Amino acid sequence: MKLLILAAFLGLSFAQFNPNTKYGRTSIVHLFEWRWKDIAAECERYLAPNGYGGVQISPPSEHIVLNNPFRPWWQRYQPIGYKLCSRSGNEAELTDMVTRCNNVGVNIYVDAVINHMCGSGGGEGTHSSCGTWFSANRKDFPSVPYSGWDFNDGKCKTSNGEIQNYHDIYQVRDCRLVGLLDLALEKDYVRGKVAEYMNKLIDIGVAGFRVDACKHMWPGDLSNVYGRLKNLNTKWFSSGSRPFIYQEVIDLGGEPITASEYTGLGRVTEFKFSAKLGEVVRKWNGQKMAYLRNWGEGWSFLPSDKSLVFIDNHDNQRGHGAGGASVLTFWDSRMYKMATGFMLAHPYGVTRVMSSYRWDRYFVNGKDQNDWMGPPAYSDGTTKPVPINPDTTCGDNWVCEHRWRQIRNMVIFRNVVNGQPFSNWWDNGNNQIAFSRGNRGFIVINNDDWELNTTLNTGLPAGTYCDVISGDKSGSTCTGKQVTVGGDGRASIRISNMDEDPFIAIHADSKL
Ligand SMILES: *[C@@H]1O[C@H](CO)[C@@H](O)[C@H](O)[C@H]1NC(C)=O
Repeated sequence: MKLLILAAFLGLSFAQFNPNTKYGRTSIVHLFEWRWKDIAAECERYLAPNGYGGVQISPPSEHIVLNNPFRPWWQRYQPIGYKLCSRSGNEAELTDMVTRCNNVGVNIYVDAVINHMCGSGGGEGTHSSCGTWFSANRKDFPSVPYSGWDFNDGKCKTSNGEIQNYHDIYQVRDCRLVGLLDLALEKDYVRGKVAEYMNKLIDIGVAGFRVDACKHMWPGDLSNVYGRLKNLNTKWFSSGSRPFIYQEVIDLGGEPITASEYTGLGRVTEFKFSAKLGEVVRKWNGQKMAYLRNWGEGWSFLPSDKSLVFIDNHDNQRGHGAGGASVLTFWDSRMYKMATGFMLAHPYGVTRVMSSYRWDRYFVNGKDQNDWMGPPAYSDGTTKPVPINPDTTCGDNWVCEHRWRQIRNMVIFRNVVNGQPFSNWWDNGNNQIAFSRGNRGFIVINNDDWELNTTLNTGLPAGTYCDVISGDKSGSTCTGKQVTVGGDGRASIRISNMDEDPFIAIHADSKL
């Protein structure tokens, strides 16, 4: 009996680390603030054909609607209930999206905001995404329902009910995060309501959850909630599949709460990866590409099988959250593509690609005054659709990094080399590096200010390969550079530091 319980527990906890992706697909894309209708179309027309394994969607729960500032992106991180009706669409549209994406083998992961409800100053009325009445003043959210009993205000010990000191773990978990009404997840009733919300999404067919603000919740409370979750819908997932869980815990070191407190429960977002890789590619603080030789656990990151990684996320691309100025974004596109190429070629972690919208940045003393700006929208605040241009790029200020050739082709590269070892590392002691993934793929990066010109071990079988960074393989031709690998696995490589993209990637499926 004891053994059975132990086996059940291990089975349950281990399964939550698996993204449940299909057909050897490995990466997730965050379609930040996209409408459900557009995501459904994108799964069918682009993500499935290009090997994306899943989509992280913005929070689908009903949220507050704010006027000052006007419709900021963070209003969706202020739920007023669990009706599936948000800025991205209603429940019917969400269900249609999940069905259509699942039908082409692209998973949906939900951004679950369960630490809190809206801000304490959110007022009272029907200023919510679907017009449901609520009162932040009285902590009354009748559509759940939650009342004053369901919040942590009695438990929090600070004078104003706010988190004041990140070195006090009780404050961080029991008090209000930037004024947000903090749910009492120690209560059976609250745990039940949160699990009911997540289980409804599982029934609809989602494959897992990005859990928001986990540092601000006790691991024991989260463990209880996760334990109440159903297995995935067997219409699309094999019986007994557990929801994939990845938890937002910002841990750059220096605080008493660490990411490793949560790795027993599911994966954790590794923010050190984002901050450090940005530093290396920018060559700040004496960093060099050559130091990437032992990238991963060797840099004191979480174990690879416990982490979810990204170059930037929706917070740190606009100076929120963690990582600071080193974080690379689409605004620094050349370095961004190089960093994303490295991330997708390297075996560490489950990888998430960011897909953003452009906004009018306005820096005053180094701080973007417009970091709050929401997605491209009409004057009434309704989110605009994502139009696709004839050249496959996106219009109306949707950036669609996931459609950039260099990034899309590296997502495919990662699928082709999945499970292959990290091998044939080479560096010039500076910022020129290369490595293989077994005998399936090879990447070379020149981030020095001079040409790379050398002969390298690719690990690949002899042949001519199409570089998927400068072009695409199309039938038996290549629209970009070609690399000839000899019978000894070696290839002569030249990469100018002036190239549009100073890196080359070839793989088994790009052989001509
Ligand atoms: C590149 O290296 C090869 C072999 O060492 C050499 O013959 C060639 O001149 C070099 N090219 C440049 C532009 O330096």
